[in-house]
Amino acid sequence: MTISGFKIICLDEVDSTNNVALQLSSGIGGQKKVIQAKRQTAGRGRWGRIWHSTEGNLFFSVLLEFPLQQLGKLIMTAALSLLETIKQYNPQSDVCLKWPNDVLLNGAKISGILLEKGAGEYMIVGIGVNIVHHPSSIDMLYPATSLKEAGIQTTSEDFLQKYMSLFVCNIKRSAADLRQGWLKNVRGLGTEIMVKQNGEERRGIFQGIDENADLLLRIGDRTQKILAGDVFYTGEK
Ligand code: BTN
Repeated sequence: MTISGFKIICLDEVDSTNNVALQLSSGIGGQKKVIQAKRQTAGRGRWGRIWHSTEGNLFFSVLLEFPLQQLGKLIMTAALSLLETIKQYNPQSDVCLKWPNDVLLNGAKISGILLEKGAGEYMIVGIGVNIVHHPSSIDMLYPATSLKEAGIQTTSEDFLQKYMSLFVCNIKRSAADLRQGWLKNVRGLGTEIMVKQNGEERRGIFQGIDENADLLLRIGDRTQKILAGDVFYTGEK
């Protein structure tokens, strides 16, 4: 099956769809693929965290050639397309973005994105979406939810089709345009946030992102650029 120029490879069980994508990325000569699995035995998240991969949820990796220097564009495309897919099911959804690449539904994490480099020019965009299950909040750094819990009934296949149609449109947009779309949908702009990275905490006012999707944090009278970390909303009532 092909969706929007991407050949879809559906597998029953893998360790991680990102690992399969990495293996496939050598010697496929410019082809675009999506590797989807029903189950992952070693699904992983950012910073080496476990990604709970129970059957019924969606796990896939988009494999495409993309310049590493434009990574920010890929991050914004991947996250915005997730948000827009959820809005297609319910335009009234309380859905927003959280830096660097999370999507929150009713204030809880609905999905995760893990970007990795493949062979040559290939990039791997690994995405997990909680369709019917979500891990309990005590297991998580941030509370989680599922589409089912939010009253959206769908299947992994349907979500993936809608997602890929949006992804191929969004990837053609300029970084400036994507940034505008991202900023319009991000939570907590102009409020105090805390960014945690390797145990170090930095508090400041969330000023947005630049075109590389790096976070801009105002601390005192200086704006710092932050390349990686986890955001917590400390300034909201
Ligand atoms: C995160 O929020 O920490 C990122 C989670 C990314 C999970 C997806 S599921 C499909 C792909 N395969 C993996 O092992 N991880 C990503």
